[in-house]
Amino acid sequence: MSLIVIKNGHLIDPQTGLNGKRDILIDKGRIVKIAESISPPPGAEAIDVEGCVVCPSFTDIHVHFRDPGQTYKEDIFTGSRAAVAGGYTTVVCMPNTLPAIDEPSLVRYVIEKGEEAGLCRVLPAAAVTKGRKGKELTEMSLLKDAGAVYFTDDGAPVMDAHIMRKAMEFAGSIGSFVADHCEDLSLSSDGVAHEGEIAAALGLPPLPPEAEDTMIARDCVLSMHTGMPVHICHLSTKVGVEIITWAKAMGAKVSAEVTPHHLYLTDEEWLDFDCKAKVSPPLREHEDIEALRWALASGIIDIVATDHAPHAHQEKMAEHQHCPPGMIGLQFALPIVLELVRKDYFDLPRLVEVMSINPARKIGLNPPKIKEGETAEFTIFDPTESWEVNEETILSKSKNTPLLGRKLIGKVKYTFYGGKIVYRD
Ligand code: NCD
Ligand code: ZN
Repeated sequence: MSLIVIKNGHLIDPQTGLNGKRDILIDKGRIVKIAESISPPPGAEAIDVEGCVVCPSFTDIHVHFRDPGQTYKEDIFTGSRAAVAGGYTTVVCMPNTLPAIDEPSLVRYVIEKGEEAGLCRVLPAAAVTKGRKGKELTEMSLLKDAGAVYFTDDGAPVMDAHIMRKAMEFAGSIGSFVADHCEDLSLSSDGVAHEGEIAAALGLPPLPPEAEDTMIARDCVLSMHTGMPVHICHLSTKVGVEIITWAKAMGAKVSAEVTPHHLYLTDEEWLDFDCKAKVSPPLREHEDIEALRWALASGIIDIVATDHAPHAHQEKMAEHQHCPPGMIGLQFALPIVLELVRKDYFDLPRLVEVMSINPARKIGLNPPKIKEGETAEFTIFDPTESWEVNEETILSKSKNTPLLGRKLIGKVKYTFYGGKIVYRD
């Protein structure tokens, strides 16, 4: 169908200041008219989205699609399907695949397979060090030319400060950046759950927050001295928030992301001894969550990224020491961030900034815009619809999330990408 009219949506796009009820006319994938009321021309498909929000679609700069090498957990096709169901049209795949994305041919593989799936933009981040072993820098220029949008050894930190400094300098000099999974392995050791009352009561090996905090501090100091950017992955601690606040005030080019699960769940998820609660960094305490929420509201945290980390059922059933950390997240980000809007931490335009505009800009893309002349790339969601997280509603190949069986409020109804509907509820 070449003509589509979206009727009665509440359009929000902080880039154009749009925040109100409008109709949208789309012709051959392009937005040709935005007005208070548009009567559907003959032959047009009319979609009534009364009560729904229409906003630029989301970008997730941190997902694990496990492709190549572990496609029994997820692959680029199933990952893309979950992404568009979550309202995302751009995702950045982490390089901790098998093999690690540390060569241009592997960067191309991810991009091409994403194009084949055709549901959304699938872009790779490449490894900082060869094989993610932390010893020798990858050929960053070649990887960037092949299409890598940034560099990270995620799943592991860059432990060696000298290598991290060189990596930041090099990535920065070619207009890119390093993103760090901040964890001092000598402090995290064999820790499983956040070091606190719950880990102590359950006898779970504790993982102290300073494992993350000291590494964030190191990276901020390196960024300040080199003048180069660094991005902090999945920030989870209140002290981390303070360090980043300080670094930003000092003028360091530091940016930070937070995951939906760190904004919403605490270490109490461990109380039923279920390893679905195991994630890196670990779920923390109420005070941390509160600090993260306000930091997201104030701009200290720039981006929401899911760290969508699928693992097979069998793997998550293992004992806590052996179970791999990680939980899926692509379909839960919107309802969780909406919960913060409902609780008045911030408003809907801020939600659009942290889920769409800031993450797209961070990787050098022009964020999608709801404007006449633009290709239709937006998400339509019902902010009040409640749905249950279960095996059927999860479109990811893996179902590892502590949210199984729970209800969330806020549901994506349509996702438009490249002028086409790529998801319809
Ligand atoms: C991620 C994974 O499974 O690859 N796990 C996780 O708990 N977050 C790795 C990572 O992002 O650190
Ligand atoms: Zn990580």
